[in-house]
Amino acid sequence: MSLTDSIPNNVDLGSDKKLLRALEKWQPDFINWWMEMGPDGFQNDEIYLRTAVSVDAKGWANYEYVKMPDYRWGIFLTPREGERDIGFGDHSGVKAWNEVPGELRSILRRIIVTQADTEPASVEQQRQLGKTAPSMYDLRNLFQVNVEEGRHLWAMVHLLHQYFGRDGREEAEALLQRRSGHPDTPRILQTFNDKTDDWMSFFMFTMFTDRDGKYQLAALSESGFDPLARATQFMLTEESFHLFTGETGVERIVQRAAELAKLDPNGDARAQGGIDLGTIQKWINFWFSSAVELFGGEISSNAADYFATGLKGRFREREKYTEHTALDGVYSMMVPGELGRLTTRDVPLRNAMNEILRDEYVADCERACRKWNHVIKKTGLDVELYIPSRRFNRSMGIYAGQSFAPNGEPISKEHFETMRAKWLPTPEDREYVRSLMKPVHERGKIANWIAPPKQGVDGKPFDWEYVRFAQ
Ligand SMILES: [Fe+2]
Ligand SMILES: [Fe+2]
Repeated sequence: MSLTDSIPNNVDLGSDKKLLRALEKWQPDFINWWMEMGPDGFQNDEIYLRTAVSVDAKGWANYEYVKMPDYRWGIFLTPREGERDIGFGDHSGVKAWNEVPGELRSILRRIIVTQADTEPASVEQQRQLGKTAPSMYDLRNLFQVNVEEGRHLWAMVHLLHQYFGRDGREEAEALLQRRSGHPDTPRILQTFNDKTDDWMSFFMFTMFTDRDGKYQLAALSESGFDPLARATQFMLTEESFHLFTGETGVERIVQRAAELAKLDPNGDARAQGGIDLGTIQKWINFWFSSAVELFGGEISSNAADYFATGLKGRFREREKYTEHTALDGVYSMMVPGELGRLTTRDVPLRNAMNEILRDEYVADCERACRKWNHVIKKTGLDVELYIPSRRFNRSMGIYAGQSFAPNGEPISKEHFETMRAKWLPTPEDREYVRSLMKPVHERGKIANWIAPPKQGVDGKPFDWEYVRFAQ
């Protein structure tokens, strides 16, 4: 572990002068990007942040006050004990690669660049949110997520620099040049060009969109290209905090919505200055249906190639499965048939890899939703939230171009349009939610539309001074 190097790392950067120089050349460009596209304001404030300082399962994080531009973005790979075999696909049982196999070079580069691009994109999407944080605790958590997405970019850029030579360096530069939502140079995946301009959307993003990231990273952590497997494995340890932020953030809004509804004589949380459960449901519908697109086509030859070549496995491939070639067997999928009816089709397993990963994701979202419903129930309110069907509101894949209700039933386009304002956020809903986004930056205080967390960060109480503002 070297923390004294210009770039903290456990990849022995000091002994590879050429790589070190390339990364040191990229570093100022990264900082320029951070100052231009990272959090707007707050760059001189001291934030109580955790920094990765080692890769031990316990104790890898160090908490201290730090100004964001001084954050120590480092390169960490989960260490590997001994050699490892490729765990699935056509090369199953062959020794894992430590160099990029020539024939897989372009497909592997595409996988890494696509993952890498989402990291700075989310920071860009969230850059205005600090100004309207509902509490100092939440402000700190936003910045924690932001600096760690920055570190994830570093993790991917390291792979590009070390293993892809000149192409990799060019890709690393391009990652700092694309901009979320830019008409000419947008980010690669559409969800990362949508705005995240209110805090309920931030919590939905970290709940649903970041959770896609978890499953993509987990699938890549099975990779036969060992440096990618080890980089993504360590990223997952940071990612779990982002998911925690999203899941508990939504839970706190749900709790407050239920409390305010109980308080109001007409059961109207909006009349009490909060967000009502119906509006929360619309945000869930919007963000979930946008996030499920990220898993890619239901029937996909790309996904089959990724699996066959040993680059991207299934979720917990080693622990969950005993058969790792996926050459036999089928996945029974509901596909749109004649007259808009759904029929079952058996898809060869390898071609259904995206859908298999999406299943894991959907089950995880449903688990979280059950927790939220438990919170509502405890207030005595008889309302339930739901995760919509994966067919609802899709613009890519086999369900795009057809209309489905949130319960997954095929419906006519006209029916969908008459229900749109009930199922998805309207401009008025967005206007209303935005109107509640007033900053609460004072220690121990919190906005009216969200409940305080059960506990603070790093064993500290909620009213701890998580941000020391420069005057
Ligand atoms: Fe990330
Ligand atoms: Fe994340």
